[in-house]
Amino acid sequence: MTTNAELFDRARRVIPGGVNSPVRAFGSVGGSPYFVTRAEGPHVWDVEGNRYLDLVQSYGAIILGHAHPVVVDAVLSAAADGTSYGAPTQREVELAEEICRRVPSIEQVRLVNSGTEATMSAIRLARGFTGRPKVVKFAGCYHGHADALLVAGGSGVATLGLPGSAGVTEHQVAETVVAPYNDVPVLDDQTACVIVEPVAANMGLIPPVAGFLEGLRAECDRVGALLIFDEVITGFRLGDGGAQGFFGVIPDLTCLGKVIGGGLPIGAFGGRADIMSSLAPVGPVYQAGTLSGNPLATAAGLAVLSQLNDSLFSTLQQRVSRFATGLERALRDAGVPARVPACGTLCGLYLGDEPPVDYDGAKQTDERLYAQLFHALLERGVAIAPGAYEVMMVGVAHTDEVLERIIAIAAEAAATLG
Ligand SMILES: Cc1ncc(COP(=O)(O)O)c(C=O)c1O
Repeated sequence: MTTNAELFDRARRVIPGGVNSPVRAFGSVGGSPYFVTRAEGPHVWDVEGNRYLDLVQSYGAIILGHAHPVVVDAVLSAAADGTSYGAPTQREVELAEEICRRVPSIEQVRLVNSGTEATMSAIRLARGFTGRPKVVKFAGCYHGHADALLVAGGSGVATLGLPGSAGVTEHQVAETVVAPYNDVPVLDDQTACVIVEPVAANMGLIPPVAGFLEGLRAECDRVGALLIFDEVITGFRLGDGGAQGFFGVIPDLTCLGKVIGGGLPIGAFGGRADIMSSLAPVGPVYQAGTLSGNPLATAAGLAVLSQLNDSLFSTLQQRVSRFATGLERALRDAGVPARVPACGTLCGLYLGDEPPVDYDGAKQTDERLYAQLFHALLERGVAIAPGAYEVMMVGVAHTDEVLERIIAIAAEAAATLG
């Protein structure tokens, strides 16, 4: 039998760090990653046959649980008809129609291949549409790895303790202004757009304070800048209408990814039709993709969306709320100073007493303790993300019984930490 350690050794010879996305390498928690062979519902299995209750769920790409039969059937049947054509298809139109129907700000949408492509393209569109150079982002928000946005990033950039990335020149970020989260910045008439995670989910979970999103809307309107919601995590997770439906604040452009591909590579950006019509082939802002609107990804996405509705989201929200309260209590009763903030169907894990409202606060989380807790959980069959700045993804497959089991395991794991 191949072991995780053997595979990691092989991987490191041919893949930098042995992984295709940095946080997966277990760098901040130590040890060898588990190599997954299959997954079903709330579970994943590794090459050694270990089974884990999975709170990673592909960092939020999976909401129905792994290998949901409706998604699997849709992908299998699409694959039999060919995997990519380079010509438009009916399913692209249907997925675009579904997205436009459900997301309040989106009148038109363009499908791309990842969240990174979505934010990168939305920024270019905002600059092209307004004719202005500056982009405002918030410290600790992660918008993928496009050059202009790779400064003060959350997620893996935070886990690795990097201010940004080597290879990104000063020139490339000269027009990127970084502001503290939950504090409305004063903009000027050189600002093309403000991009924000409407619920920050890459520096742990930090909900917007009252008035923050409304304040951003008003300040963008005051100077004629575009407001971009990066809903790559919150889209179709906080509800059918994402964070904008949840909070009732409507951005000009919205970026999507993750859930809308059901685990296949996809992204999307959309918004007001007058802005979207600046895109090629109608307008002068160029954007393209060989695999964009891919037949398998659109089949999976449509299958997922067909299962999502208001009652499912409200059930999920109640479950997450009970889970967050129960988990926080279990950890604190065992002497671990933990906070489990929840917002709608999202919840995070902050190891400290004072729940943060911005990146400076988020960085106070006890990363050493997180690593210990991570391994104590993993040994007992519960997988959380191997990075202290990620959130926990509770989906449809995490029934109350599953979540209660996770809380019980967490209590046991926490009791072992000295
Ligand atoms: C809010 C947000 N935006 C953008 C991205 C980038 O998406 P992708 O990893 O698909 O490029 C992520 C990825 O985690 C994200 O969380």
